[in-house]
Amino acid sequence: MSYIGKHISSLATPAFIVDKEKVEKNCRRMLDLAKSNGIHLRGQTKTHKTVEGGIAQTGGTKRKVVTSTLVECEMYADQGFDDILYGFPFIQSHLERVFALTERLEEFHLMVANQEACQMLEQSAPPEGKLWSVFLKVDCGNARAGVWWEDDEAVDIVKFIQGCQNLTFQGIYAHCGNSYGAHSISEVERVRDSSVEMMVSLARKLKEAGLECPHWGVGSTPSCSHASNRFENLTEIHPGNYVFYDNQQVGLGSCGLDDVAGKVLTRVLGHYPKRKQMLVDCGFTAITKQGIGSQAHPKMIAPVDDHQDLMLSNMTQEIGFVEPIAPEGSIDFSLHPVGSLLKLIPYHSCASAACHPTYYVHDSQGIIQELWTPCRGW
Ligand SMILES: Cc1ncc(COP(=O)(O)O)c(C=O)c1O
Repeated sequence: MSYIGKHISSLATPAFIVDKEKVEKNCRRMLDLAKSNGIHLRGQTKTHKTVEGGIAQTGGTKRKVVTSTLVECEMYADQGFDDILYGFPFIQSHLERVFALTERLEEFHLMVANQEACQMLEQSAPPEGKLWSVFLKVDCGNARAGVWWEDDEAVDIVKFIQGCQNLTFQGIYAHCGNSYGAHSISEVERVRDSSVEMMVSLARKLKEAGLECPHWGVGSTPSCSHASNRFENLTEIHPGNYVFYDNQQVGLGSCGLDDVAGKVLTRVLGHYPKRKQMLVDCGFTAITKQGIGSQAHPKMIAPVDDHQDLMLSNMTQEIGFVEPIAPEGSIDFSLHPVGSLLKLIPYHSCASAACHPTYYVHDSQGIIQELWTPCRGW
């Protein structure tokens, strides 16, 4: 059945619904932040994994994205995108697919997180007339992949890369996901500022060692959601979650509830007044607890949009439990007849969107304009 032109209330549930105007506003704001600082935005596409989202993130240029999977790179390459960074640590088993991407794109970059990856690439011939183009992943406190920004290892790896025949060095890349551990906007800004300083200082150190460093950037959604002239000191930023935002970002002060563009639509299955609960058709296959941290209530998985007194508090595979947030609160069941709709605001939109094969993209009146099909797999 075609849903185009119909209201979201006609959808089978659960469904992932996306407010197009909010996506466009969120993407425009990030492009403007980069532009006003004279730097590039290389948006991470992992939140939505769609062609349409990539077009919104690049302002229609289809240039400069970073992806989390090879299948995203291949989808974007098929759709005319270029200057794509596969933002995941390179290992040998990726070689065949990165060879094909390097061959067909004008600019395709890999992320290396250690010297072994550089050695593997050096020992493999790139496509004719091309070099393996690499960014070095740097750890500025995120404690995930990459070399610690202050360690000599960072300079040694860049020296190694620049001595290689088959490699060309693009620059250094830090995610600064440690901004998610902040408890206030000023703490987020402290993480951002220190990450920027670390990257600037490493770029300077490389130049002082006679090594080229064309690009240096940081980027997570919390660290890129507040204006600052510190960004002028970088060459690029690479946040991704801002396309949809979510309740975690609301809590971190990255956005307001009204900026959240991706929600899960669900229907009421039944009323359980003795337990002060309603059941809905949204279980853990349709919304996720991934990464759940401090919320307004310890049991809260997701607040209910437009009913701020209610929360999704538990789930089985296909069923969710909705109850009042306040212990002494109650549900006005007359407002929520069986079969009526609720919208849930995901804690983590990247992980919740990943539960759905289609996104129903609607206008501000709730009329479905487009269906977006995310790529899946790796
Ligand atoms: C390597 C890399 N770059 C950029 C991002 C984007 O960060 P955010 O999701 O906070 O926007 C991520 C997110 O996990 C990432 O892993």
